[in-house]
Amino acid sequence: MRSRSYIQEQKLSYQQALASQLVTAVIILNQELTIVYVNPAAEAILNKSLYRLYEVSIETIFANTSICNTRLKQLLTTGQEFTDSDIVVELSESHRFTAEVTASSIEFEKAPHVLLEFKQIDQQKQISLEVFQHQQWLAARDLIKGLAHEIKNPLGGLRGAAQLLSMEINTEQQEYTNMIIEQADRLTNLVDRLLGPNQLPQMQVQNVHGILEKVCQLVSYSNGQKINLLRDYDPSLPAVECDQEKLQQAVLNIVNNAIQAIDEVHDITLKTRIASNKTIHGKRIKLAVQISIIDNGPGIPNKIQDTLFYPMVSGRSNGTGLGLSISQTLINQHQGKLSCHSRPGHTEFTILLPLNQQTLNQSSISQEGTL
Ligand SMILES: Nc1ncnc2c1ncn2[C@@H]1O[C@H](COP(=O)(O)OP(=O)(O)OP(=O)(O)O)[C@@H](O)[C@H]1O
Ligand SMILES: [Mg+2]
Repeated sequence: MRSRSYIQEQKLSYQQALASQLVTAVIILNQELTIVYVNPAAEAILNKSLYRLYEVSIETIFANTSICNTRLKQLLTTGQEFTDSDIVVELSESHRFTAEVTASSIEFEKAPHVLLEFKQIDQQKQISLEVFQHQQWLAARDLIKGLAHEIKNPLGGLRGAAQLLSMEINTEQQEYTNMIIEQADRLTNLVDRLLGPNQLPQMQVQNVHGILEKVCQLVSYSNGQKINLLRDYDPSLPAVECDQEKLQQAVLNIVNNAIQAIDEVHDITLKTRIASNKTIHGKRIKLAVQISIIDNGPGIPNKIQDTLFYPMVSGRSNGTGLGLSISQTLINQHQGKLSCHSRPGHTEFTILLPLNQQTLNQSSISQEGTL
C-alpha cells in the first residue's frame, strides 16, 4: 500500500504534466489580477512566453476584450465562476481570435487565484459557416438554373416567330421584329450565363502558373495602364489536375472584378503556394495548391459580403452578379474551394485545388523529366 504523501506527490506531478499538454489555454491570475502562470497552449495563443507574461496585468494583455475586471474581482470574493462564449480576444490589430472563456477560482498557496480557460472556437465556427453558406449557394443556384431553363424554351420560340413574321412584313415594320430578335438574343445570352458552365471539365495534370500567365496576358491587353500586375509564385509548386479553360475563366472573373473595383492605378497580385491541412466543404484535405488573387482596392461592400458568391448578387450598377457564382461553380467542378476575405485596402480571393497522392507522383515524374 502506497503512503498518502507518495500519492499526493504523484497527483501533483500528473497535474503539472497535464497543464503543459492541454490544448486549452490556461492562465492563472493572483489577487491583483496579474499573471502568475500560463500553460504552453496559452503561450502559443498569446505569442509570448511565461517569462514575458509573468506579473503582467491582465488588463494590458486583453485591453480591447470584454473580460470584465469587476467580474474577476467578484469571483475572487464569492467564488462564483462564469463562462462567456464568443469573446473576441484582440491582442493587436492583426492578432485577434474568438474564444469561449471560463473563469473559476482556485486555491494556490493558501490564497484564492483566478483560473482562466480559453477555448479557441474560430475554426469550428468558420467551418460550420462555410458549410452553411455552401448549402445556401447550392439552393440559390438550383433555383436560378430551374428558372433560366424555363425561360430559355419560350425565348427560342419567340425569336423564331419574330423571324418568320419579319419575312411577311414590309421593311419599315421590320424595325419592330428586329427589336424583338435583338432583345431575345440579349436575354438568351443572360439565360446561358445563368445556367452556368454546362460541360464536364477536361482534367489534365498541369502547372497552374501557365494558366495564370495567360490571364495576365489577357487583362494586360485590355487594361494595360490601370493596373500593376504582380506575381508571387512558388516555383516549387507541384502540378495539379485541372481543366485549363475553366480554371482560366474562374481566375479571369475574379481579376476582372478587381479591375472594375479600382479607379486609379492599383496592384493586383497573383500568388501561389502549397497549402496543408485545409478543410474543403467540411472535408479535411492534406495538401492543396493555393492560388490567391489580391488587390489593394476599396474592398467588397459590407452589405454583400455574406452572399457574395450567390448568383445575381452585385455591388455594381451595371453588374449582373454572375461572375463569382460562375467561378464558384468552376472551382467546385475541381472539388476545390473559392473563398474571400476583404477589408478596405486588401481583398483576397483564395482558390484551393486539392492534390491527391496520384497527382503528386505524376507531377514529380513530369518535373524530373523536365530537368
Ligand atoms: N476585388 C473586388 N473589390 C471590390 N468589390 C468586389 C471585388 N470583387 C467582387 N466585388 C463585388 O462583388 C460583386 C459581385 O461580383 P460578380 O463578379 O459576381 O458580379 P458582377 O461583377 O457585379 O457582375 P458580372 O461579373 O456578372 O458582370 C461585384 O459587383 C462587386 O461589387
Ligand atoms: Mg464580375
